[in-house]
Amino acid sequence: MRSMLDRLKWPADAGCTAVPYWVFNNQEVYDLEQEKIYNGPTWNFLAADAELPEKGSFKSTYIGDTPVVVTRGQDDEIYAWVNRCAHRGAEICRERHGKSEDGAYTCVYHQWAYDAKGDLHGVPFQRGLAGKGGMPKDFDKKKHGLRKVRVVNYHGAIFGTFSDDTPDIEEYMGDDVSYHMRRLLNKPIEILGTTRQYIKGNWKFYAENTKDPYHASLLHLFHATFGLYRSSQQGESIVNNKVHCLIWVKSSEEKKSALDDVKKENLRTMQQGNYALADESLLAGQQEFEDGHSLDILSMFPSLVLQQIQNTLAFRQILPKGKDEFELVWTYFGYKDDTEELRNIRLKQSNLIGPAGLISMEDGESTELCQKAIVRDGEYTSVIEMDGKEPEGAKHLVTEGMIRSMWQGYREMMGF
Ligand code: FES
Ligand SMILES: [Fe+2]
Repeated sequence: MRSMLDRLKWPADAGCTAVPYWVFNNQEVYDLEQEKIYNGPTWNFLAADAELPEKGSFKSTYIGDTPVVVTRGQDDEIYAWVNRCAHRGAEICRERHGKSEDGAYTCVYHQWAYDAKGDLHGVPFQRGLAGKGGMPKDFDKKKHGLRKVRVVNYHGAIFGTFSDDTPDIEEYMGDDVSYHMRRLLNKPIEILGTTRQYIKGNWKFYAENTKDPYHASLLHLFHATFGLYRSSQQGESIVNNKVHCLIWVKSSEEKKSALDDVKKENLRTMQQGNYALADESLLAGQQEFEDGHSLDILSMFPSLVLQQIQNTLAFRQILPKGKDEFELVWTYFGYKDDTEELRNIRLKQSNLIGPAGLISMEDGESTELCQKAIVRDGEYTSVIEMDGKEPEGAKHLVTEGMIRSMWQGYREMMGF
């Protein structure tokens, strides 16, 4: 019987074109990811600043599986801290969103009270009661604040990091990814709503999925059937700093003939017959970006996907909940200056995405299909060779180059 350490050796000839399935189903790997990736030099998406509209607003979320609260202080600055009481470890903030009217965050257990920055202000019975009890004389509240998270507000998207070594946010993302983030956050946004889903799969199966333009016309039949996306469309797959990437696609001029093209391209669609939408207004959109992109999806490793699909705009936050489960939080947004018509288009098109989205529910399902099947086969590997063996982007959409690149970066971060 080989030891666990031997078994966790990346197969010698695998490089980034074959990934051993143990990375998706091993508790030690999961724990090491929390240390090396989520507690390491990475920027993790925490919130849109539009989710913290007023002084006193807060949101509780996670970096990896560490609970974190993001706040807007009385000075209008954004802060974040680990949601773990400095006294005996209880979760302090138990709501997902809200507003602290007095700016205080009080642990329910013994009511230690903190401010928006995470500094400790109040300790009940610090001086005891009627001369009895109390904390030692040298107890110093300044030394017992919450574990703080370094934050940055990048054009309205708030990111946090535990590490002092994390580079500047633009340097971290790279030129293309940061350009496209600014493209989507080019003016003040308005939050339209949030959905959440739990997916019974390892978070990296989903990370692969979002770097995989190859599957889009095959898995998502709605996409293909109604001409929203075809692999032959003009588009690009771009890698930045190995682990971040961008997929863009230009809108098709010939939506009407799309179904015929798809039939030629895709035998499965042909077998399923002709479909028509009972309400075609679902797909009635507006060309709102000068570059003509109908799809623009950026993945910022490890926790954020920021998307434009037609006129739907959303942050997708990936929150691992164990080696074989993660939560996916969708935050839908528009712009503050949207016309009512455009806002309604966004709301209607939001049916395309989210947990039951017409073109995104299969992503959750395929993640679960992978997790189910690899559970006892950790020593086998996948095959990631579409469009060659190099870890790089492509001027087209039929590639797994961005996935190869992510695994190369992952191996370096993890020391595999
Ligand atoms: S654990 Fe929070 S006050 Fe005791
Ligand atoms: Fe997909």
